[in-house]
Amino acid sequence: MGMLGRMTAPAFGGEVSEYYQRYRRGYPPAVGEALTAAFTLTSEDVVLDLGCGTGQLTRVLAPRVGAVLGMDPEPAMLGQARKAGSPPNVSWLLGADSDVGALSPALGAGRLGAVTVAQALHWMDHARLFAAVRPLLRPGGGVAVVTNGEPLWLQDAAWSVALREVVSSYLGTPLHSTCGTDETSQTRYADALSAAGYAVAAQVVAYDATLSVEEIVGGLFRP
Ligand SMILES: C[S@@+](CC[C@H](N)C(=O)[O-])C[C@H]1O[C@@H](n2cnc3c(N)ncnc32)[C@H](O)[C@@H]1O
Repeated sequence: MGMLGRMTAPAFGGEVSEYYQRYRRGYPPAVGEALTAAFTLTSEDVVLDLGCGTGQLTRVLAPRVGAVLGMDPEPAMLGQARKAGSPPNVSWLLGADSDVGALSPALGAGRLGAVTVAQALHWMDHARLFAAVRPLLRPGGGVAVVTNGEPLWLQDAAWSVALREVVSSYLGTPLHSTCGTDETSQTRYADALSAAGYAVAAQVVAYDATLSVEEIVGGLFRP
């Protein structure tokens, strides 16, 4: 028998989850608006935020829909999400992309307005996920593959170049991970969505954030 090598997610537990809660860049209301418009979300809708981490996008979605299921396979992430306070219509679920199909008996077919995957699809079997999600979506619903801009170490700015050099030298290997934000990954996801029968559209919501040095350093303590 041969050997199968599958990339596993690095530890998102322990201290990493604390750094996520404290320093992870959030999403502005405009992202919630864009998702609401794309899938005509209303207070009748349930949305699944898969790979929710400590709930950065979950909380943006909550006021716009009936309920949000924030789902993540890392208990520490969900623990931090709970600690930070949950909007009344958010439920935190322990589970990975491979568990999404198992929601079907509880939710029923066609119950979800959207499945959002924010900055987490690169850890998942995206083709299998896109197929598993289809029966759960209501007409007009869909999957949103959300990115939060380029990683801190790949920005087009002198501070980012310096950061990349320092961290690459610390790690002893060049730091070039795009976390799925690069064009090649995005095209691969779009092609897989089309192959699974979705109509695909891309949308950019531009936003800036001023980060302190503490936030930049804290933001690095996460994969
Ligand atoms: C970079 S964080 C993104 C968190 C949040 N969605 C955001 O946008 O800030 C990636 C998250 O994906 C989760 N994750 C890793 N592998 C996963 C899988 N197979 N299925 C679902 N989530 C996964 C991790 O536990 C982590 O919380």
